[in-house]
Amino acid sequence: MTESTTIRWEQDETGIVTLVLDDPDQSANTMNQAFRDSLTVITDRLEAAVQADPDSIRGIVFTSAKKTFFAGGDLRDLIRVTPETAQQLLDGGLAIKRDLRRIETLGKPVVAAMNGAALGGGYEIALACHHRVALDAPGSKIGCPEVTLGLLPGGGGVVRTVRLLGIADALLKVLLQGTQYSPQRALENGLVHEVAATHEEMLAKARAFIDANPESRQPWDKPGYRIPGGTPSNPKFAANLPAFPANLRKQTNGAPYPAPRNILAAAVEGSQVDFETAQVIEARYFVELAAGQTSKNMIQAFFFDLQAVNSGANRPKGIEPRPVRRVAVLGAGMMGAGIAYSCARAGIDVVLKDVSAESAAKGKSYSEKLCAKAVSRGRTTQEKADALLARITPTADPQDVAGCDAVIEAVFEDSALKHKVFQEIQHIVEPDALLCSNTSTLPITALAEGVERQVDFVGLHFFSPVDKMPLVEIIKGERTGDEALARAFDLVRQIRKTPIVVNDSRGFFTSRVIGHFINEGVAMVGEGIEPASVEQAAAQAGYPAKVLSLMDELTLTLPRKIRAESKRAVEEAGGTWTEHPADAVIDRMVDEFGRPGRSGGAGFYEYGDDGRRAGLWPGLREHFTRAGAAEAEIPFRDMQERMLFSEALDTVRLLEEGVLTSVADANIGSIFGIGFPGWTGGVLQYINGYEGGLPGFVARARELSERYGERFTPPALLVEKAEKGERFGDA
Ligand code: NAI
Repeated sequence: MTESTTIRWEQDETGIVTLVLDDPDQSANTMNQAFRDSLTVITDRLEAAVQADPDSIRGIVFTSAKKTFFAGGDLRDLIRVTPETAQQLLDGGLAIKRDLRRIETLGKPVVAAMNGAALGGGYEIALACHHRVALDAPGSKIGCPEVTLGLLPGGGGVVRTVRLLGIADALLKVLLQGTQYSPQRALENGLVHEVAATHEEMLAKARAFIDANPESRQPWDKPGYRIPGGTPSNPKFAANLPAFPANLRKQTNGAPYPAPRNILAAAVEGSQVDFETAQVIEARYFVELAAGQTSKNMIQAFFFDLQAVNSGANRPKGIEPRPVRRVAVLGAGMMGAGIAYSCARAGIDVVLKDVSAESAAKGKSYSEKLCAKAVSRGRTTQEKADALLARITPTADPQDVAGCDAVIEAVFEDSALKHKVFQEIQHIVEPDALLCSNTSTLPITALAEGVERQVDFVGLHFFSPVDKMPLVEIIKGERTGDEALARAFDLVRQIRKTPIVVNDSRGFFTSRVIGHFINEGVAMVGEGIEPASVEQAAAQAGYPAKVLSLMDELTLTLPRKIRAESKRAVEEAGGTWTEHPADAVIDRMVDEFGRPGRSGGAGFYEYGDDGRRAGLWPGLREHFTRAGAAEAEIPFRDMQERMLFSEALDTVRLLEEGVLTSVADANIGSIFGIGFPGWTGGVLQYINGYEGGLPGFVARARELSERYGERFTPPALLVEKAEKGERFGDA
């Protein structure tokens, strides 16, 4: 290959070479084969030119012709890497590193003119430059988010951030959290040298640096350089080193996330050797992650599935978007108050209605508190906060919802009350207003019977706390029209949340599936397992909430209510209701011990007078625990897999039943809505990625079924797919 296809060489009369990153085949530049080849061609040409005539080149500027500077590794390539092809990846990565290093040490000033987002590989190219100027354009994010995809920055990102910022800052500010900085915050944290307001200013700053530094070198290539803050060979630094693994354990809760561990190792080991060796160490740790299953799971979920979901793969086609201008939120309780805040934050006017002016005002005060906190932390300005609050009108008067083009109902979970509040407002709002209910359990088709325009009625299931939770589950009732569905989808995107779409069913997708996780945890207490071990199993499986504490939050009376309703529905339909082993434990907790959960001041945990959670209730051990139950009869792995499998298996049943229609929705909904562990890539990707693939998962489900009950029997759809050699998500 003698030609560069993705990097354009532009040389001006003063001797500045601008290398324009411009992949002709893609909307963004990535580290694909064409880039690797082009970089070698360009590097050879630069070296040859300098060798022939050192004065022919005064300096080098990297910039891009795309909206973003550079997008990073090619995830389509990365998700296909196997342990067998890993060597190829290692060689390719080392070639890029070698070329960037050759440019970095050419003896000429090199500047990154970052005209847009520079994440991952993009920021790594910039790190190989002596000077970094970032354009302050909308969406210009800077950083190394690889850890959020189960990877590490393998293009020199670990080696150079450690040398630029020191081990501690590199780990904490860049590598372990994967923080994406705005140009301004990147400047404050030492990731870039300058910020420019316009494209011209950015290029002028790049030229000015070249003019002022004709013989630029990286700090780490200057004599006497030491890594800022020291390295493990310094005893003072070494004394703090054990704190890192401990913090890591805290960050991942002991769950199987290999990336943070590899990042830590690459940073620490690489700090004790020369630059070139450090690059090789980094590359090896990178390839280990890329060849493993976790990064594939995380790339699938957090890149491909998230993109599919947010871009509207599941939105009815051909319907013009119509942004919502004014929304009526009915019920200003915990959920209504949060929904009002999220809508106002997105610029929508909100009428927040409750039974009395006082309760409506109390609902608005929630937004006041969130705004005050955001201002005090510098996350927003007082002006913006005032404007947000001015958009929320609390009221008890139904007439105030006049002019609203959407309604979101969030009154108590009671169908008769929900019917009543819709009847009260349906002729006051706009005649074609979108009608949404935030019910968490009531079937949408039956709720819709309370309104005249059933075609405009849809479920919009938010999660608590609304301002933080990124997901909204949209539920299509039997009579919900495509237009309403599309408008609901657009409304969720308008308030910058992620919408999944499901068909109507009791508990929809999320509420039904999370119930299995909780039931498994509670059942284990009933089987005599030490409650602290149950909690530990959930944490180490990667669940963000421990299972018994989550049950307490939701209150133990809720599953009883749901159970009674579901039982009635099953029996009315002529079916037979099967008890879950958790039911007896919950009944005893409520009826015998009077412990209904956190809101009642006592549950699986004890609570202080201030409502704070204290330890697990000692009575659990006394009344339920049997010595030896965990170790001998129920291994730790079984405890974890019972939780994970129970959720995964019911998700397959939901696909069979047609409640779920998209694999991406299931994966994203499970992680973002109900805390299914992120390392799995979501509830169906967990099955794809399980050891032995689908056949391995089926075999293990059968084992669990024999040991713990028929609820683990693999559904027909799963068995069929396993036999055909398919995976979930295969087209
Ligand atoms: P909440 O009890 O905090 O609030 C309900 C509010 O509705 C109260 O402020 C009440 O005064 C008001 N209200 C009652 N009758 C009204 C009427 N006629 N007109 C206007 N307002 C009236 O309840 P929460 O937790 O906010 O739940 C509301 C809905 O959201 C329920 O359907 C619930 O199932 C659902 N949901 C709850 C979640 C949660 O985590 N709490 C999660 C997702 C959905």
